[in-house]
Amino acid sequence: MKLYLDTAELSEVESGVRWGILDGVTTNPTLVMRAGKDHEEQIKKICGIVGNVSAECVTESRDDLIAEGRRLAAWHKNVIVKVPLTPDGLGAGRVLAGEGVRINVTLCFSVNQALLAAAIGAWCVSPFVGRLDDINEDGVGLVRDIVKAYRETGVKTKVLSASIRTPMHVTQSAHAGADIATMPFKVLESMFKHPLTDKGLAAFAEDYKKGRAALAAKKEPAASR
Ligand code: E4P
Repeated sequence: MKLYLDTAELSEVESGVRWGILDGVTTNPTLVMRAGKDHEEQIKKICGIVGNVSAECVTESRDDLIAEGRRLAAWHKNVIVKVPLTPDGLGAGRVLAGEGVRINVTLCFSVNQALLAAAIGAWCVSPFVGRLDDINEDGVGLVRDIVKAYRETGVKTKVLSASIRTPMHVTQSAHAGADIATMPFKVLESMFKHPLTDKGLAAFAEDYKKGRAALAAKKEPAASR
C-alpha cells in the first residue's frame, strides 16, 4: 500500500520525502485554505517535491469541471485531478480521462458510487473512512467492500483510503486491500512510533558506549608500558 500525505503544507511534504516513504499527496480546498497559500502556486510547489499530487476542482457543472480539470492538469504532469462523485463530476471525469488526465473521484461513500467511478476509467477512487466512522458507519468496511467488488469485476481503478484519522485506520486500510492510504502528517509520524524501538535504541547506544569503554580500559595498561 502506497503512503500519501493529506496536506497542503510544504514542510510536511518535504519531511515525508526526506524519510523516503512518501509516494504522493492529496489536497482539497479545506487543506489549501488552512495552509493560507495560493492554490496554483502551492500545487506546483508540491509537484516539484513529489509525484501523484491530487488537486481538487471546485466548479459544479460538467462543462466548468472539464475546463477547470484541463487547467489543473496543465499546471504539472504530477497533477491528478479530483472530481466529485456527481453526474457532472463523473461526466467531466470521463472526458478528462479520455484526454489522458489521471482522475481521482472524491467523496465516495458507497460501493455503487465506486462502481460509477470505475465506469469512467478513473485512476483512483477515494472512499472517506473517517467521515463514515463519524456517522457510526464502517469506513474501513467500505474500503474492503470496494476492493472486493473491483477484484471480482476486474476493475483497474485504484482504491485510495481517504479521510484517515488514526494509525489504526492505516493498518486496517492495508488489511482491507487499499492501494493507497492518504493521511494527516501526525498520523504518518505516529506510524514510526513504538516504545520497544525507543527502548531498544537506547539500550544499543548504552551498550555501544560500555563496549568502547571496556576496550579502552583493556588497552590502557599496554599503552602505559
Ligand atoms: C483526501 O483526498 C480527502 O479530501 C481527505 O482525506 C478528507 O479528509 P477529512 O475527512 O479529514 O476532511
